[in-house]
Amino acid sequence: MSVVSEGDTIIVPRNVHKSITAGIILSGAIPVYMQPELDKKLGIAQGVTPETVEETLRQNPHAKAVLIINPTYYGVATELKRIADIVHEYDIPLIVDEAHGPHLAFNEKLPMCAMEAGADLCAQSTHKIIGAMTQASLLHVRTKYVSQSRVQAIMNLLQTTSPSYLLLASLDTSRKQIALEGEELLDKAIENAEYARAEINKIPGFYCFGKEILGNPGVFALDPTKICITCRDLGITGFDLDMILSNKYHIQMELSDLYNVLAVGSFGDTRENLDTLISALKEISEEYMDKNAVKPDFIDIPAIPKQVLIPREAFNGYKESVLLEDSIGEVSGEFLMAYPPGIPVLCPGEVITEEIVKYVGDLKKTGLYVQGTEDPKVESIKVVIR
Ligand SMILES: Cc1ncc(COP(=O)(O)O)c(C=O)c1O
Repeated sequence: MSVVSEGDTIIVPRNVHKSITAGIILSGAIPVYMQPELDKKLGIAQGVTPETVEETLRQNPHAKAVLIINPTYYGVATELKRIADIVHEYDIPLIVDEAHGPHLAFNEKLPMCAMEAGADLCAQSTHKIIGAMTQASLLHVRTKYVSQSRVQAIMNLLQTTSPSYLLLASLDTSRKQIALEGEELLDKAIENAEYARAEINKIPGFYCFGKEILGNPGVFALDPTKICITCRDLGITGFDLDMILSNKYHIQMELSDLYNVLAVGSFGDTRENLDTLISALKEISEEYMDKNAVKPDFIDIPAIPKQVLIPREAFNGYKESVLLEDSIGEVSGEFLMAYPPGIPVLCPGEVITEEIVKYVGDLKKTGLYVQGTEDPKVESIKVVIR
């Protein structure tokens, strides 16, 4: 909202967090989407490449800003410095959603942080990775493109006038901790996570990606503290594994998807914690290995459909529910997400195509997931009545 107003174009990845969609709706901006690189084996989206940013800007030279998510939830970083240089050639700001990277600046073994790469604005969920309390975040601003007073005015529009001093104090203490002890604490976290990765990779049925995927599309650098445990070969889903770890072993994972569970190896974890996880995984491997349950690859997602209404118009428009097979040619009033890899097939304001309706049918037949609509079975979808 600091960088775009009504009718301005902002270039964003297709898989942005809903907080960014909210900003787009509130500002009345026009989003132009970039597809991140997809890893079919892992079933996750990696980063957006500099080439994609370059091409999208070439096609949309009037854009007012570019936003990049870096690193991803799974700890994969793109070549941010090159992206910053490309964006600045157009004399517009680069915003980085660094929700999962507030620790990057404090250890050289981690990918380059957004502000060092040349970002103009960068939001970090300080509460997620370093020591602040839940909700406490930081917004960094260092730019010639937006005035600090504009950013402050927008914050005043969106935030309470009664800030929590508990949260502010927790931000200060976590800043102090990461500034004074961060390098050492993160060295320990990285060492522990690398140990866990190596041990888990010895267990039949599990795979934790590491340096070997560097250089794959959208994978420029890795945050080793993220431990993504792929359980495809075990014949259970990531959701199953999440529940087994929680119910039987009382281990809470960060997230799960069809093929993976994610552990965040923070500096709050100890070697003993990780050994508990590793021995649980060994037992699970013995119990479930060789049951021959084959997991399907995810199906390529259809091309991004035409946007005829901006997200704000679609959000405010009058909507009716129609059967998915009757919705071809209508304008979607909802998101429709394909899992894996957790990317919208449809965003509000986009035209529903025959290809998309067929794709949803194929996903369901294959046992993959599609969700996002108010109807949990995705048999009907809300469309905007114009
Ligand atoms: C990529 C990304 N951006 C933004 C956010 C929002 O951060 P917060 O929950 O701190 O508001 C999240 C939260 O999960 C996220 O994953």
